[in-house]
Amino acid sequence: MNETTPLPGIKLFDLTGRTALITGGSKGLGHAMAAGLASAGADVMLVSRHLDEAQAAAANIAHDFGRKAIGRAADVTSPEQVDAMLAAAERELGKVDILINSAGINIRAPIAELTPEQFDEVMRVNVRGTWLCCRAVLAGMRARKWGRIINLGSALGLIGLAGRTPYTASKGAVIQMTRTLALETAADGITANAICPGPFLTEMNTAIADSEDGQKFVIGATALKRWARLEEIQGAAIYLASEAASYVTGATLTVDGGWTAQ
Ligand SMILES: NC(=O)c1ccc[n+]([C@@H]2O[C@H](COP(=O)([O-])OP(=O)(O)OC[C@H]3O[C@@H](n4cnc5c(N)ncnc54)[C@H](OP(=O)(O)O)[C@@H]3O)[C@@H](O)[C@H]2O)c1
Repeated sequence: MNETTPLPGIKLFDLTGRTALITGGSKGLGHAMAAGLASAGADVMLVSRHLDEAQAAAANIAHDFGRKAIGRAADVTSPEQVDAMLAAAERELGKVDILINSAGINIRAPIAELTPEQFDEVMRVNVRGTWLCCRAVLAGMRARKWGRIINLGSALGLIGLAGRTPYTASKGAVIQMTRTLALETAADGITANAICPGPFLTEMNTAIADSEDGQKFVIGATALKRWARLEEIQGAAIYLASEAASYVTGATLTVDGGWTAQ
């Protein structure tokens, strides 16, 4: 066997025996990524502020993939609720190997029409929430010398767009936070990476999808000239959570139909 031959017995994208905590898992990209991880063998806990929605999403995943899937309510902006969420995940899943921070919000308007409270709200969920959840999982990951942290940035963390000052600022911050976390955790067997999606048809984008201008914008902005399908986020999440990405940390992986390539 020469040095470039893959090691026998290592299944690059297999997550059997892994456990994952997915914030924002009740819908949209978080739900899709949770389903992706479960399809690769992981047990999952899905979190959102609405228990009924998180539990319904978890039940779907348990049914579809035969994995353990639990729904839990937590507000990621609350340190107490984040700690309780982690304790529940460790109790019910045994450990948390993989954290996906997909909880996020967007408030769109020109800067002159926004209030400081609206700016703070976007930063609270997207930046503080992500930071709190990253901070919470580290002790367990460090003790086990293995961990995968996947944060949701955005194409709009890499480029600007009029009418999105809070959101672009928050996603730029998430990307920078992820890079710094990668440096802080590299010695402990933990990787931290950001996925930067382009336009996916989720609840967050209903208003854009419903308007003719919004539709034109998405088709014009993306090289692939279309919205992404929800399942098109799953490969990136499985990859970054798996052994296949063991040498990938501090990276931003765009899944944006070529939006930021131009
Ligand atoms: N969709 C896109 O095109 C796109 C593009 C780039 C980046 N992203 C990013 O990808 C992530 C997921 O977006 P999405 O489109 O899937 O959004 P979505 O469909 O609106 O789902 C957002 C999820 O976050 C949860 N959430 C919001 N605030 C929360 C809080 N304070 N605590 C706990 N959970 C909270 C929501 O549940 P509750 O409301 O019940 O709490 C829901 O489960 C976000 O970070 C977003 O910025 C999305």
